[in-house]
Amino acid sequence: PEDLLFSYDGILYPAALSSPETLEALKSFETRSNDVILAGYPKTGTNWLEEMVREIESTDAKYTEEEMKERINAEKELQMFPRLEFGDPGVFEILLLLRNPKDTAVSYYHFYNNMPVLPSFATWDEYFAAFMSGKLAWGSYFDHLMEWNRYIDHERMMMISYEELKENPVLGMKKIAAFFGFSLSEEEFSRIAKKTSFQAMKEKSKETHGKFGDILFRKGVVGSWRDLFSEAQNEEMDQKFEECIGGTILAMKIKY
Ligand code: PPS
Repeated sequence: PEDLLFSYDGILYPAALSSPETLEALKSFETRSNDVILAGYPKTGTNWLEEMVREIESTDAKYTEEEMKERINAEKELQMFPRLEFGDPGVFEILLLLRNPKDTAVSYYHFYNNMPVLPSFATWDEYFAAFMSGKLAWGSYFDHLMEWNRYIDHERMMMISYEELKENPVLGMKKIAAFFGFSLSEEEFSRIAKKTSFQAMKEKSKETHGKFGDILFRKGVVGSWRDLFSEAQNEEMDQKFEECIGGTILAMKIKY
């Protein structure tokens, strides 16, 4: 039913997880100079990245547990970035997480159909059309990518992709740590890579995410879009992707 979602500034949000008041308040969200903002469209691996960053920060031990909790703002509502200007002196660093749009779409499809707070789609084709036109909770992935692309050269911004984290989590975390100014040993990085592996996080998910654990930690692989995309849908998405961010560094980062 449509009333599970509400529209704010032309973007849909789940009423159970957000409210117009919260979104309104975010417009004047005050950041502190040591804040870290993790930004990502739904299903790009935000829970994974957040866990890695928390582990990196706590291992470096520059901050207490309490300070760390406060430092991380993983508010997905901030995804439409221009609402929070880089000019804001409080904003320290922003780490943008990317995932190839096809796997993101498939992951989001399963999530949509399994989460009671989101409406369900009768068919994949129907869902695919909604994904392409951005008529989903938290808006269009393509709009999100185009917005962020405007800030990509900013010195306080870094991007990392789900795919590169999968391919080499230690290398990915080293880049993240370097960007945030943390230094960890080789052993510490490998320990965190094990602790934040899909298997490890899935096993702990009952504890961390309750009954939604199994929905959130679904497959954790690259390439599962092939199970659902038709040839025509594959072409349609390639074309849209090209139109929206073709030729940008951001596009090169999202290999698929
Ligand atoms: S949400 O609901 O928007 O917060 O979801 P998000 O956490 O951004 O993304 C969920 C997808 O990330 C996968 N995931 C992982 N992949 C690899 N390693 C680890 N540790 C990990 N943790 C979560 C999760 O399985 C979802 O992807 P799919 O493709 O659905 O499996």
